[in-house]
Amino acid sequence: MESHLEKQNRDVLQKYLKEMISTLPKENCWGFPEDQYQYQGFWFTPPFLQGALSAQQQFQAQPTDIILCSSPRTGTAWLKSLTFAAITRTSYNDSTTPLLSKLPHDVVPFMEFDHAQFSTNRHLGIPLLATHLPYSFLPRSIIDSGCKIIYICRDPKDTFVSLYHFIARHCKSQNAQPIQLDEAFELFYEGVSPYGPYWDHVLGYWKASLEHPDKLMFLKYEELVEDTVLYLKKTAEFMGYPFSSEEQQQGVPENIVQLCSFDNLSGLEVNKTGRHCRGQGNWEMENNIFFRKGKVGDWKNYLTTEMAQRLDQRTLQKLSGSGLSL
Ligand code: A3P
Repeated sequence: MESHLEKQNRDVLQKYLKEMISTLPKENCWGFPEDQYQYQGFWFTPPFLQGALSAQQQFQAQPTDIILCSSPRTGTAWLKSLTFAAITRTSYNDSTTPLLSKLPHDVVPFMEFDHAQFSTNRHLGIPLLATHLPYSFLPRSIIDSGCKIIYICRDPKDTFVSLYHFIARHCKSQNAQPIQLDEAFELFYEGVSPYGPYWDHVLGYWKASLEHPDKLMFLKYEELVEDTVLYLKKTAEFMGYPFSSEEQQQGVPENIVQLCSFDNLSGLEVNKTGRHCRGQGNWEMENNIFFRKGKVGDWKNYLTTEMAQRLDQRTLQKLSGSGLSL
């Protein structure tokens, strides 16, 4: 529970951050009622930048924490559900797991939306926490504590298409007019997207994964789609919760993959009709906004050949020399 003094300190910090943010370069956030602001090379809407900066100041990681990191729309909710199901597999069974009654984002909280101030108040006592922050924004204690980090990324074309639909739908729910897809494309291309430039977000984690492979696991959405069981096993091992040979014989990894599959999760009542609240009520949305198609290559239905080629060129140029391809 927050004390009176803690609340006062929080209010002072929030006021200071609000004033500071209002001085930053800003751009339209794809039609969203609030603009996005550029801070240390990345774009954020104000509540999330405030959360990021509060987290930097106040978040205390534990060495046992496992931080799930991603840019929006790259498979965050899926990674949350897979890792949560793997870690809690002996505490819950197929009919008692909280994944049946809660949105994955309500099972594994976001550090900068939900925990910036209350870092010890972990949901369900599990070590998982998520963030959309770029690597260079992670609170110092995450790096110093040596806790493990898992990053997921995705083909920029599918990421863009997924992000566009997410923001457009959210705009409509706020009675705001989303911008056209081709306008959003130009902004994404120039790096002006929430938590973008997308490539810089990916590269920060990619480079850190090369430097600290034992601490940072780097995943791609497409690989996870291709062989979910294999990557689930690798992830469980990395987290320190490997599947025993007996569990493997019993098909435990396969059951988890089935539980967390797009079809299964998107068909649950909670994910069809529930609502999700983020950042102390700053953002409220329908749970089903987090489940759209869950496919690789859906960009083909929205981007022209020229747009796809331009984005591929951009990706090649941005990732050149890094050893990473997307
Ligand atoms: P699409 O919009 O392409 O369908 P995030 O969780 O980072 O916001 O990512 C959202 C993307 O992951 C959306 O992609 C969403 O449909 C997809 N997704 C959500 N749950 C999934 C699951 N269980 N399996 C595969 N993809 C999933």
